[in-house]
Amino acid sequence: MAIIIDQEQKLLTPHTITLHTKNTTYQMAVGAYGQLLHLYYGPRLDGDMRYLLTYYDRGFSGNPYEAECDKTYSMDALPQEYPCFGTGDFRSPAFVLKNADGSYCADLRFVSCEVCKGKYQIPGLPAVYDETGTESETLKVYLEDAVSGVQVTLLYGVFAELDIITRAVQITNHGDKTVHIEKSASAVLDFMNGEFDVIHFHGRHGMERIFERTSVEHGNQVFGSRRGASSHQQNPFVMLAGKQTGEDAGECYGCMLLYSGNFKAEAEKDQYEQTRLVMGLSDEMFSWRLEPGETFDTPEAVLSYSADGFSALSWNLHRLIRSHICRSAYRDTKRPVLINNWEATYFDFTGEKIIGIAKQAAELGVELLVLDDGWFGKRDDDLAGLGDWTVNEKKLGMPLSKVAEKIRALGMKFGIWIEPEMINEDSDLYRKHPDWAFTIPGRKPVRARYQLVLDYSRKEVVDGIFAQIAKVLDETKADYVKMDMNRHLTDIWSKTAGEQNQGAILHRYVLGVYDFLERLHKRYPNILIEGCSGGGGRFDAGMLYYTPQIWCSDNTDAIERIKIQYGTSFAYPSCTVGSHVSAVPNHQTGRTTELAARAAVAMAGSFGYELDLNLLTEEEKEQVRKQIENYHRFEMLIRQGRYYRLTDVWKKREYAAWEYCRTDGSEALVTVVTLDTQCNPATEYVKLRGLKEDTKYRVEVVGTKTDGTNGQHINETPNAVEPDYFTGAQLVHAGVPIPRMDNEYRAWQMYIKEMQEN
Ligand code: GLA
Repeated sequence: MAIIIDQEQKLLTPHTITLHTKNTTYQMAVGAYGQLLHLYYGPRLDGDMRYLLTYYDRGFSGNPYEAECDKTYSMDALPQEYPCFGTGDFRSPAFVLKNADGSYCADLRFVSCEVCKGKYQIPGLPAVYDETGTESETLKVYLEDAVSGVQVTLLYGVFAELDIITRAVQITNHGDKTVHIEKSASAVLDFMNGEFDVIHFHGRHGMERIFERTSVEHGNQVFGSRRGASSHQQNPFVMLAGKQTGEDAGECYGCMLLYSGNFKAEAEKDQYEQTRLVMGLSDEMFSWRLEPGETFDTPEAVLSYSADGFSALSWNLHRLIRSHICRSAYRDTKRPVLINNWEATYFDFTGEKIIGIAKQAAELGVELLVLDDGWFGKRDDDLAGLGDWTVNEKKLGMPLSKVAEKIRALGMKFGIWIEPEMINEDSDLYRKHPDWAFTIPGRKPVRARYQLVLDYSRKEVVDGIFAQIAKVLDETKADYVKMDMNRHLTDIWSKTAGEQNQGAILHRYVLGVYDFLERLHKRYPNILIEGCSGGGGRFDAGMLYYTPQIWCSDNTDAIERIKIQYGTSFAYPSCTVGSHVSAVPNHQTGRTTELAARAAVAMAGSFGYELDLNLLTEEEKEQVRKQIENYHRFEMLIRQGRYYRLTDVWKKREYAAWEYCRTDGSEALVTVVTLDTQCNPATEYVKLRGLKEDTKYRVEVVGTKTDGTNGQHINETPNAVEPDYFTGAQLVHAGVPIPRMDNEYRAWQMYIKEMQEN
């Protein structure tokens, strides 16, 4: 039993409610006056944790009315499971209710709870799933605010084997008056003691998910997005970690939101040195009108705990995302190696040119051609065309179905780019339906990339765009879609919503995007959908429910990508990371890196190319052929293996290294890229992880030579001793010397395989 409700016989109110996973325990209790208190989340243990609660008379703290003369039940100090504004807890609340009389108050008390088999789902929103219904249990805790009649159901999904607990909240108005939800977080974690760091992932367009670690201090640290998308600037994933926690030791908690719009993560240390983490929808520009009888569902948050550092936490999340969040015919299979024409041609192409790029790519082993922006409407630059999803045959010189046919004749799959949430003022759609774009009456809208945002809170808008795009997908029998989103939201005002509902539009917009994606997923179950938002501007677990891979960044510079992929890896597995080899000098940074390094970096993701391979030398083409062979060889290890960050890319100056290791330790792939060259440098050593100490391994150097051939020895210096085999202990504890490379930005890859005669 993963969920235990400990109650005395016949007594309806439980003492404690305990969630067990393989290695963790989560416990809450109903307090003396019916408030739900949080007791514990951490390493697995048994027992009643209520002994941790302390009751003191605390100055300026609020006490429930029923406590009468007892001043020790301080709402401001007791750890809360779902803290509400208006009850005397002055810390950051999870729930703010505006009542019909205009007051801001909700006083949630325990009503009952129940346990069900399998995992709850959330209407219209992405949620972790349990296909067989055997891997999880659901706990529902019913709370009620007696005055307003609002019922709040706390939902918990417990995946015991995966060490994952999910949380979501359902709010139903059982009263007879309209209320407004002003804030409703998905998860809260209260810690009664402990010193923590909070780790969040900030960034910008072209440099997403930068790891940043700061101490949780008194006051509230807020990370979030008010951009209408989860954003490049902050990611809806945060960690709390002990002060000493590192990659392979120390405790840490991860909290990931399955949501692609505005969110808010808060880390607060209170006056009594207690820490609160709150994660959920942003309450800024949010106000949800809830009529009698209506229900509101929050997005879902995922929690996981590791006692063994960040790597183990990442594996928990990677495993969950791969098999319980991503849904796709491609979920458990190899993703095709693709070529995308964006950096090869930008808007300047014809059908013939695209076919020419595909032809060369097919010869070298590429399996899918993606036709990026510019195939539709009057789209020769980014000034026009968005909204008109009709093929520009004049530009292509042929129907798009013909292009697709010719590409298929090469033995390749065919895919297209779309940006369905956007509209250019210079488009037939805008001329016909100007009110479909977000604009505020009487104000000039904010433009970004010359485009406006369609009001996806309106079903007719989603219907209209979906119909146009479905027609093209049907005509071309597309195998792949890249769904982009290239600006953030402003001018939030929906023509049909009415004045009182404008505070719901940002969330309704996201629900509209999910509706669009769900239709795509249902109608085209075999299409591979890749998410994108100017690269990784909507790289979140909500999108991954619909798009099993996401273009990780518009920055294709291999060296910059190492940093972006490093940050991304804390929550998201490599198979979700769209990653391509592009031309040099790199279009974003002007940097030149060797082809092998670009491929080694791109291989740490869903692999592809984004350049015109016709422009390569014959020698380079041979290298590409070999890279694709290598990708096929190691793809399974990369997709399913445990990911180890062997260096901190923001600290280690000389080189970056990462490793994929099979869970049973039988094989591993290590990649090293040199970042800096020095005169007469020290020898650098890379230490492996995840291998079995007493096992013998053979080590093979993979594809490092510029001619693409595999090397033989790991230590090529004169007089070097070459052992017949290495033990796991040698590789893990002593490591191996990294060859001194004659230039920066060189890649070196090692494949390590357990020997048969072990
Ligand atoms: C975004 C994407 C790019 C490309 C362009 C096309 O920036 O991230 O990969 O598709 O749009 O306009």
